[in-house]
Amino acid sequence: MIVKRQFHGYNECMTALSLRERYEQLKQEIHFHNYRYHVLDAPLISDAEFDRLVAELKRIEAEHPDWVTPDSPSQRAGAAPSEKFEKVRHPRPILSLANAFGAEEARAWFERIRKLDERVERAAFVVEPKIDGLSVVLHYRDGLFVQGATRGDGEIGEDITANLRTVRAIPLRIPLAGMDRGPWTVDRDAQEALTSNHASQPSLFDDLRPPSAVPRPPSSLFVRGEVFITLKDFEALNRRLQEAGEKTYLNPRNTAAGSLRQLDPAITASRPLTLLVYQVVYAEGGEVPATQWELLAWLRGLGFPVTDVARRFESLEEALAHVQTWEHRRDELGYEADGMVIKLDDLRLAEGLGYVGKDPRGAIAFKFPAREVTTKLLAIEVEVGRTGVLTPRAVLEPVEIGGVIVRNATLHNFDYIAEKDIRVGDRVLVKRAGEVIPYVIGPVSEARSGAEQPYRPPETCPACGGAVEHFEGEVAWYCVNAACPAQLVRNVEHFVSKGAMDIGGLGPKIVEKLIQAGLVRDVADLYFLRREDILAAVTKKERKTEKEPPGKIADNLLAAIAESKKQPLARLVAALGIRGVGEVVARDLAQAFGSLDALAAASAEQLQTVEGIGPNIAAAIVDWFGREQNRKVLEKLKAAGVWPQSSTVHGPSSTGALAGLTFVVTGTLAGFTREGVKEFIEAHGGKVSDSVSRNTDYLVLGEAPGSKLQKAQALGVKIIEEEELRKMCS
Ligand code: IVH
Repeated sequence: MIVKRQFHGYNECMTALSLRERYEQLKQEIHFHNYRYHVLDAPLISDAEFDRLVAELKRIEAEHPDWVTPDSPSQRAGAAPSEKFEKVRHPRPILSLANAFGAEEARAWFERIRKLDERVERAAFVVEPKIDGLSVVLHYRDGLFVQGATRGDGEIGEDITANLRTVRAIPLRIPLAGMDRGPWTVDRDAQEALTSNHASQPSLFDDLRPPSAVPRPPSSLFVRGEVFITLKDFEALNRRLQEAGEKTYLNPRNTAAGSLRQLDPAITASRPLTLLVYQVVYAEGGEVPATQWELLAWLRGLGFPVTDVARRFESLEEALAHVQTWEHRRDELGYEADGMVIKLDDLRLAEGLGYVGKDPRGAIAFKFPAREVTTKLLAIEVEVGRTGVLTPRAVLEPVEIGGVIVRNATLHNFDYIAEKDIRVGDRVLVKRAGEVIPYVIGPVSEARSGAEQPYRPPETCPACGGAVEHFEGEVAWYCVNAACPAQLVRNVEHFVSKGAMDIGGLGPKIVEKLIQAGLVRDVADLYFLRREDILAAVTKKERKTEKEPPGKIADNLLAAIAESKKQPLARLVAALGIRGVGEVVARDLAQAFGSLDALAAASAEQLQTVEGIGPNIAAAIVDWFGREQNRKVLEKLKAAGVWPQSSTVHGPSSTGALAGLTFVVTGTLAGFTREGVKEFIEAHGGKVSDSVSRNTDYLVLGEAPGSKLQKAQALGVKIIEEEELRKMCS
């Protein structure tokens, strides 16, 4: 057997790799590529290639469950929900930080500690961002991640190991396999890209040491870091939730905190949490660097995510000058930071200074001014989104927040306005973080004059006057008129966007004109546009330069529209704008069904056999394809030749002992996690469904079964136990 070995971007051929060797190799590869993606933000392979590696790993693990070790990439998710969090005593107190508001307070801190130890006079400092997230402590024993805890009261935290395992930036084993060959040697470009943004001072990456210096960690190591959500991920998460009619989150910090405190790790796994580490709390059985600067490089060398904007300075004044530049550049960080931490570089010197209460003397948090202000809420406007969701938006008396004039802010949803009792005319507290849309925190009720008006959500769509509806289990109100012009504009914008049909040059102004002129009544009409239609719709704004003739714009656009007919099925499925069906779900649907005809004919049950599709999305898909006007759009697309077929139908496998059989699982199984049993059945060609129906062949019965058992009995579905399931496959 010849197995092609693909690792670290090299290809080499290896002969006669045993399955066990291949398995070990796969684990390392997946960890390595995970690190490239989630820690360095510099992937070497595509998502699809990565998915294939994971699928191969899971196939092997399904056949050899006894090979699986806790550091396998498959063990990040899948732990069963717990009842409560156990308490964990930290090996040493998890300290906080004293604050300094302004340079004077920082200088006063320096004076105080200089008096305690004269070596402070000549001390160097390290400056790092103060990330606004949740402090966690990660315990590694013999290189293996064994426990993770919240800070708690600083002495005792809560055991959130299962949740932290789902955070992909956290290494499950250190040092990360491949570190010696990986980022240290092949990745000068990525390092340069990362450091060039902040090039004024030497960076951690300049401290690169040769591969032989990849350290061996102490046998017991407790590392502290901050778990958070980047502003970009936060916005994307909220956008998805909003389009699905679900409640959006208020801010990244609360979302991260709430996600870490979920009893079901599967929920945590679905949130885009990440982490940066900055401290060793305790170590035994090995050396740890004696300066903060070396410590950060050392942690990085072990495979931990470490900030790339830390800098070292020979004096406090230099450190302060640097910190002050960050006050204006904080948006560049991409996450919420409420200040910068100034730390004595010499960790022993810092330690020797002791602490005051919970604040160590050797470091101080230089706080940035808060980006919250009050202003008057002039009006509440309602926007209509692509899926028809009505979203309230605050119109504010313009106000400056951290150097930006803010005129609008999000109010999340109508329930939020009611819960917070936000009234038009109120003084409201508004917060802005990074590039994220500012949001209204709440009213300043004390400032009311009595003239403020309680708000009532609209009973009709503000764009078309049509009916609005509320769906069971959702927070949003929808305009259900498919011909609503506001929805249509958003729909077309979505259809032509990059992740969908990718038709460049079709800007919102042209779209609006085409809709106004009655030339575009649905997305399929784009494929029937004539040159003169576009010419009439092209306004001056569309011409990038005065010289670009409208004829050329029209020709380019027609070419782009024609070219989009070649887009694969997954793109078209994503482009349709079905609630809850983004790029990832669309890709899975395209793989499972292979054509729009098959997808349109699928029942909610069948849809739910696709991983990641629950009852809500399945219902939304069935609903979408059931609507008359959508069927018309599909017919028109077909007539226009926009009807891609997927050549890679993965679907349930047609071979294997369980091929053609549908299973439902109830209760807890002794030898499988919930995900594990699903993978086992699928690996043997079977399908797994969430609910019992006449199409169910077997109910797999575990401890403490739910109502599925009664339903299966009522329908006469065969009931088997875990043992029998295994026998069917052996
Ligand atoms: S050092 C002895 N460094 O800020 C070490 N803390 O307000 C004390 N934080 O509880 C902490 N980023 O959760 C340190 N780069 C950083 C930090 C940081 C965020 C948090 C930490 C701490 C809080 C204090």
